[in-house]
Amino acid sequence: MKRYAHIIGWGKYVPSKVLTNDDLAGMVDTSGEWIRTRTGIVERRIAAPKETTATMAARAARDALQVADIDPFSLDLIIVATATPDHLFPATACLVQDALGAWRAAAFDLSAGCSGFIYALGLASHLIAANAYQSVLVIGAETLSRITDWGDRSTCVLFGDGAGAVVLQASDVPGGVVSTVLGADGSGAELLIQPAGGSRLPASNQTVAEGLHYIHMNGPEIFRFAVRVMDKATREAIEKAALTLEDINLLIPHQANNRIIQTAARSLRLPQEKVFVNLDRYGNTSAASIPIALCEAIEGGRVKRGDHLVLVGFGAGLTWAATVVNWAVPLPMPPVSRWRMALRWLRYRGAAIESFLRRWWRRLEAIVKVPFKSK
Ligand code: COA
Repeated sequence: MKRYAHIIGWGKYVPSKVLTNDDLAGMVDTSGEWIRTRTGIVERRIAAPKETTATMAARAARDALQVADIDPFSLDLIIVATATPDHLFPATACLVQDALGAWRAAAFDLSAGCSGFIYALGLASHLIAANAYQSVLVIGAETLSRITDWGDRSTCVLFGDGAGAVVLQASDVPGGVVSTVLGADGSGAELLIQPAGGSRLPASNQTVAEGLHYIHMNGPEIFRFAVRVMDKATREAIEKAALTLEDINLLIPHQANNRIIQTAARSLRLPQEKVFVNLDRYGNTSAASIPIALCEAIEGGRVKRGDHLVLVGFGAGLTWAATVVNWAVPLPMPPVSRWRMALRWLRYRGAAIESFLRRWWRRLEAIVKVPFKSK
């Protein structure tokens, strides 16, 4: 029997600290008006010192699991799409697995810049269709504020922090993620890059002094690339789903720049009401932008059962990606009962205790185990 991958849960987390355009105008040589007219951004969220990509991802994931009404233990796989992992290794997805107590799940990170969430969604839906997995948690999460040069006006006005998550589940009901188009062009790698901190240019006093651990970007080149691929990827994904542009109810684009979104919408001949925009409040949150936007579109009543959605993004790599989702879950969802919320709260406390015990057990094993002796 054919298997389909449906989005059955969604959640988002954004930090509470708001950084407005006017705040930025006091930090670098810019104005609120310049930022708003050139990008559409009015404010963005900035992670608190204790918040990280993993903690925000886990918060979004808990909400998604709540909506899906499934236990973290039943997850088979967790994919975190991010360009700002907590560490180069271990994967942020493993930290999320631990925070959720999703002990059965495999976990890994996916790096495809701002296209990462759609890459992960496409991969997860194919794994479900191939009968490899039943339930997959797909997260896009970023703490871009930690790699932003707050003295560089050409980049610092663009980015923000946050996380969005969806639960994908196998079903024999037709619909869900119906087509995915993924693309890359590594010849544009240097157009959007964090030059240092990897194995080519390991972090050193010199790389830090030169600011090579920050985001470096050629804005106008990325702009041209973005407009081109948003149109191309959207059309390809729709064609692959055997649909036409007229069948699309809502386009949820990567929230990088409203001028990019509007230019793409015009070339696709999609009216305003079919394009979802929330970047005025969050700026560009890279891999988190599309799942956060999807969540808000659902919560705002912009998605109905039977709708065809297109999610489309572009980013570092260079990469691009688009997917068509045929929404099959009835909306709005019934509210989760208090006792189920309490039960889940207890479940997460239990996961924290289990994680603690696992760490101690490992230490104990190291103390009591017979040392290995070579001849
Ligand atoms: N405030 C005021 N002036 C600024 C500024 C700021 N924050 N940032 C740049 N400028 C200036 C430039 O120095 C330049 O001045 P000059 O003409 O005296 O040299 C002028 O504004 C125009 O710069 P330019 O880079 O051509 O502006 P732009 O209209 O292309 O807008 C971006 C810049 C970054 C907003 C735009 O190129 C963009 O959004 N690109 C895509 C970026 C993106 O999406 N990145 C993420 C991909 S996932």
